[in-house]
Amino acid sequence: MVIAIDGYSSCGKSTLAKDIARELGITYVDSGAMYRAVTLYFINHDVSIENLDMVNIALSKIAIEFHAVDGSLHTYLNGHDVEQEIRSPKVASNVSEVAVLAPVRHRLVALQREMANKGSIIMDGRDIGSNVFPTAEFKFFITATPEIRAQRRLLELESKGITTNYQEVLANLKHRDQIDSTRTLHPLIKTDDAILVDNSNLSRQQQLKLVLDIIRNNHSVN
Ligand code: CDP
Repeated sequence: MVIAIDGYSSCGKSTLAKDIARELGITYVDSGAMYRAVTLYFINHDVSIENLDMVNIALSKIAIEFHAVDGSLHTYLNGHDVEQEIRSPKVASNVSEVAVLAPVRHRLVALQREMANKGSIIMDGRDIGSNVFPTAEFKFFITATPEIRAQRRLLELESKGITTNYQEVLANLKHRDQIDSTRTLHPLIKTDDAILVDNSNLSRQQQLKLVLDIIRNNHSVN
């Protein structure tokens, strides 16, 4: 079984996807973390996104994996735990420009499809239902107002000890939404077969129940 969760920046996709993965006992993959890890590598190695030769060489040197650490999944870049670093404002402000690049997308989409060969999976991102897994059994498109999303992301970053402020977070998410929705390759779109969930006024538990009920009523998992 493949479950695709797409939606705007900071709309709670990964919280929802992790909760569902736990309830159903399936694998969760955070595709955004993979774009963030590539972005971190590009920043640390001064890879210019204007120079596609440099981009391709860099991609050939990048290995991304997920490993459980203290009960949660952490992103590893070339053997190093980068879970905290990839959430930094520095990475957030560059990731959408990196995610536009065709070689980056082709490499990461291939990796994402490989991950689904190993068993049932829930993956969140921007192009999961529209491009990575167009035949996914379940597709959800999550949204919430920009102000609510910014408030939630601010709290999340603060809880991780990352210094930022509401205006910076709001500006970043609007900036990424704009680039992600308008790029030519694999833009963020809601496909006709995706179920729209506006979680602006839903608690974490209410959102989980809503989506789980849909999955359980339409599939023989429990
Ligand atoms: O968690 P948040 O909504 O902030 O974003 P994310 O899921 O970590 O994704 C970070 C960025 O990666 C997005 O803004 C997109 O530019 C890019 N991305 C993408 O292009 N395609 C995906 N399937 C997932 C993320």
